[in-house]
Amino acid sequence: MRGKVPHLLHCGLVRAALPIPRACTRRIAPRVYFSTRTRDMGRGIKPSRRFGAQQQDVWSIINEAAAASPIQPIVNMGQGFFGYNPPAFVIDAAKGALDRVDCNQYSPTKGRPRLRKALANAYSPFYQRAIDADKEVVITTGANEGMLSAFMAFVEEGDEVIVFEPFFDQYISNIEMPGGKVVYVPMTPPADGASRNTSAGEWNLDMAAFEAAITDRTRMVVLNTPHNPIGKVFSRAELQAIGEICVKHDILILSDEVYDQLYYVPFTRIATLSPKIAALTLTVGSGGKVFYCTGWRVGWLIGPEELIKYVAAAHTRICYSSVSPLQEATAIGFEEAESRGFFEESKREMKGKMDKFNEIWDELGLTYSDPEGGYFVLANFARVQLPPDYVFPPIVANRPRDFKLAWFLIMELGVACIPPTEFFVPENAHIAEDWLRFAVCKEDHILEEAKERLRGLKKYIK
Ligand SMILES: Cc1ncc(COP(=O)(O)O)c(C=O)c1O
Repeated sequence: MRGKVPHLLHCGLVRAALPIPRACTRRIAPRVYFSTRTRDMGRGIKPSRRFGAQQQDVWSIINEAAAASPIQPIVNMGQGFFGYNPPAFVIDAAKGALDRVDCNQYSPTKGRPRLRKALANAYSPFYQRAIDADKEVVITTGANEGMLSAFMAFVEEGDEVIVFEPFFDQYISNIEMPGGKVVYVPMTPPADGASRNTSAGEWNLDMAAFEAAITDRTRMVVLNTPHNPIGKVFSRAELQAIGEICVKHDILILSDEVYDQLYYVPFTRIATLSPKIAALTLTVGSGGKVFYCTGWRVGWLIGPEELIKYVAAAHTRICYSSVSPLQEATAIGFEEAESRGFFEESKREMKGKMDKFNEIWDELGLTYSDPEGGYFVLANFARVQLPPDYVFPPIVANRPRDFKLAWFLIMELGVACIPPTEFFVPENAHIAEDWLRFAVCKEDHILEEAKERLRGLKKYIK
C-alpha cells in the first residue's frame, strides 16, 4: 500500500502542509495559507488583506497531487477543461483573424461589433425580442471577468449577495473584492442519493430559505443553470419563483448560464420569464464553454441597457478590452454554428460521453446524480471504504471525506476528480462529503481509461 507522502517533498505540497489559521468563519472551507510570497518582499511591503492570506484552492491541491501521483500519466477528470480542440470552423476562424491587422489591435472596450451582433442574433430568438447589440451586450475576458465586472458595478462595501450552495468558487472572491458579503443558501441532494441513482434535478432549493436570507442590504442573487457542479437545470417553475422573489425585493439576478448549449432536459432562461424579471437580470455566457476553448477567455453579459452600461464601465477599468482575434473567431463561430448543426451535435456528443462514462457506477454498484446539463457528474462514494491505516498528508487529513477520497483516487488509481465540499461553507460541507465530481469533457479513450482504472475500486466497496 502506498499512502506515504515522501514524494510530496519535491512537488511543493509540503509548503501547503502548514498549520491552518482559522481566521475567517464564513469562508468556503478551512484552507492552507501561503507563506512564501511575503518572504521575498522588502520589510515594509505587505500584500493586501485580500490576497496576503490567500488560501490554497482546490484546483492547485488537486493539480499538484495529480502531478505527484506515482501513476502517470494521470487521467485528469478534475478541472473542466476540454480534452479536445474546438471544431475546425472555429479554429480556422481564429487562424484567419490572426492575419488581420485590425484583429491584432485593441478592440472596442464593449467588445467587437461583429461578436456583439452575432450574439444578439443568436440570443434574440430565445428572448423573443430583438437584443440591441450596441447597448445590451458587453464582451468580457471570460465569463469570470464579466461577473467580476457586474459585482464591481453594483456591489458597495457591506452589500449582501446571495449565493446558492454548492457554488462556482470564483463567485466568492469576485463578490468580496468590491467589499460585498456573501450570504449562502444551501441546495440539498435527495436523502437517498447513496442507495439509488438520482437526477440532478432532485437537488432542491428551499425558496422560503432563499427569501428568508434577503435583508435590506441584499443587492444581488447569483443563479447558475445548468449548474456546476450539480448538473441541475432549474425548472421553469423554480426560476419563476426565484424571479418573483427578486422582483418583490428589487434584487438583481446574475444568471450564470455558461453551459447554456449543454442541456439534456428543457432549459429555461430566467430573463425570458417576464419583463419585470428581465429588467433585473444580467445573463452570463462563455465562448470557452460553447466552443471548447476555455483558454481563449471570451465571455459576455447580456441584459438591459441600464444594467449593461455599468458592467461595461467596470470592465473598461478592469481590463480595458478583451482578446481581439479570439473575439472575432467566436463571432464567426456563432454566425456558422446553427447552420452547421454544431449546437445539436455538441449536446448529443456530450450526453453520449456522460452516459457512456456513467456506466461505470452501475458496474461498481455505486450511485450517481444524473446531470440534466453541463459536463460534470457527481458520483456517490458512501459505499467506498478507505483503508483505515491509509496515511493522508495534513492538507487532506484536515478536510472532509471527499478530499480523502479524491486523494486516494489520484494516488492509488491515477484518476483525478474534484471534491465538491470545496463549493460549500464548512458548516454545510457534510451535504457533499460522500460525493465526487468528474468532468467528462474528455476524449472517449480517456473516459474508457478512467473506467478501467476505476474498476480498481471494487475491492474497497462494501
Ligand atoms: C459555473 C461557471 N461559471 C463560470 C465559469 C467561468 O467561465 P469562463 O471560463 O468563461 O470564465 C465556469 C468555469 O468553469 C463555471 O463552471
